[in-house]
Formats: sequence, structure tokens, C-alpha cells
Amino acid sequence: MAQLGTLEELPQDYRDAMAEAGVAPLWPMMRNVLPHGQPKPQTRTGFWKYDDVRPLLLRAGELTPVEKAERRVLVLSDPGRGNGAMQATASIYLGMQLLLPGETAPAHVHTPSATRIIVEGKGGYTVVDGEKLPMEDGDLVLTPGGDWHDHGHEGTEPVVWLDALDLPLFVYLEGSYAKEGPLQAQRNRPDASLVEYRSAGLVPSRSRNTARKYPMTRFPWARTEEALREIAKYGDGGVAEVDFINPETGMDVLPTMGFTAMMLAKGQADHPPIRSCSSAFHVVKGSGTSVIDGKEVAWGPKDTFTAAPFATIDHEAGEEAFLIRVHDRPLQDKLGYYEERAR
Ligand SMILES: [Fe+2]
Repeated sequence: MAQLGTLEELPQDYRDAMAEAGVAPLWPMMRNVLPHGQPKPQTRTGFWKYDDVRPLLLRAGELTPVEKAERRVLVLSDPGRGNGAMQATASIYLGMQLLLPGETAPAHVHTPSATRIIVEGKGGYTVVDGEKLPMEDGDLVLTPGGDWHDHGHEGTEPVVWLDALDLPLFVYLEGSYAKEGPLQAQRNRPDASLVEYRSAGLVPSRSRNTARKYPMTRFPWARTEEALREIAKYGDGGVAEVDFINPETGMDVLPTMGFTAMMLAKGQADHPPIRSCSSAFHVVKGSGTSVIDGKEVAWGPKDTFTAAPFATIDHEAGEEAFLIRVHDRPLQDKLGYYEERAR
């Protein structure tokens, strides 16, 4: 590989003249944007223990009324970008959100897509385009970009969920904005996961053209766990994994973010291929250890950790464990560069 010229090798008068003209030489910077072989991610493995985050979140509940916060969230910042960074990986934003009994988070709509993985509490709900979605431990709830949504809480204990958004992408594209509106009227019926899409393999008989773009916005955890257990029971001994898909199209549930749930039996190890996508792992339950690019993460229930693009990842469950992996493979698929490399 040829060593490219540096800025310092150029005469000062030439550098000054370039600056004056608003131009810069590419060659000193080229390897930064086009490294050889694979990217050099800024993202570093992040690890957030729920036991550390929870008291801070509950204190936010005392310090800041929801009216002053709109969304009462502590942002999980990528260590590679520093505290306060609005991204956990290049394309994925993560935040831990608290809603207290009786509170509502006002209705809005925005260009980025948001998703929730419910961490604790009963009685919370999200309304997406008029459909009331109960939020129970481990449920995946989608609020796709362009869909109105608000949150409410009819229970008696704090409700906490993990938000995952493709916000960094929209901020980068200068395409991120929101509109606010009144709380939505709720349709008086169960959500689509309990009606139209109650059984895998069955969808309402109708023209595809009439289906909503995002027809199913809640994936109840109980079903996910049941599917994983059956696959584990009758599978080939590998790690049981399921992808969340749009039941009408069979495609990923959102344009840029993908969701994969995995089950590790007690003591089971997993050595996935090196993937070009970035990932955020949320532990629904169980405990274990993961080594990500050499960093050891000893995780337990409700903890969250991240992996950069092209990370080398090894998992080992201490006890039976269930995790949901949020990733940007759908985005990379669309851009045509998702890949997996053998270890
Ligand atoms: Fe939102």
C-alpha cells in the first residue's frame, strides 16, 4: 500500500492559497474515508447495566416532570463518541425512557422510526395511529417514521422501556423533524397482533394494496419466547434466533433497523460470523458473558450493550438467556453492502 502524501509536505503558501479558495487536497485525508479492507469504526463497545441506569432514571422522574421533558429519557451514548452523543452506534440511537403512573407523553410524529423494548412495569401503553398497544416486559413496539404516537400509563408502578431509533441517520441527512398534535382517539379493539396477525402464516384475505404499510406494530414477548423455545427444542443445537418481520411482506419490520431475538441455553456459546452491521443487544432475561472486540461484558437481566460494525463477538450464557439484537442490517442490505465474514 503506497504511503500517501501529507498536508505538512506541501508549502505553506500553497496551503494558505487553498484555504483562501475553499479547497483542500484529498490525498492526505483519503485513507480516513476509504480505509483498506474494512471500515475503522468510531463506535466502541458500550455497556449499560440496568442497575446503574434505573436509579438515575427514577431520579429524573423526581427532578423533571414529564411536561418539562416531553420524553423522559436518559441517552445511552457510544463511548467512542463521548457522553452526550445522540447515538449508540453510527446509525442507532438508544435511550432508556421512564413513564410514571398517570403520566402521558404527548402525541407527535417524526421522520425517524422509533421502537421500544419494554424493560419493566405494567400498565404502560403506546398509541400508534389510533391503535392502543399494551407494553409488557420484552414486547417490541414499533412507531414507524410518519406514524403518530403517544404514550400513557394506567398502572401503579414506573414503566421503563428501551428506545431504539434510526435518529442518527436522519440527523446526518438533515432530515430529522417532528410535528406535535393532540392525544389520539383510540380505536376500541385489541392491537393487530391479537386480531389480524394472531397466528403465524395467516393474514387477512384482501388486496395487498389495502394493507397498512406497517400493519403490525406490537410483537408480544410471550410469543417470541415460545417460538425460540420450540426452535431450540427441535433445532440442530445451534443458537435459536428469530427475526421480526412485517407479516404482509415478509420483509424487515422497518426500513433501516432490524430486530433479532435469540435464546441461549444455560452454558451455551455462540460465535456468530463477523457482520458488517452494528448491533445493540438488550437482555430480556438471563445472564452471561460476551467478548466484543476483546472487551468482556458480563451481562444480566435488562442490561444493554453494543457492538461496532465488523466486531468479533462471542457470547456465552451463564444461565438460560434471551436477548433482542437491534441492528442496521436492513439499511446495509438496501445500500447493497451487508456482508458476513467467516471467523
Ligand atoms: Fe416519538
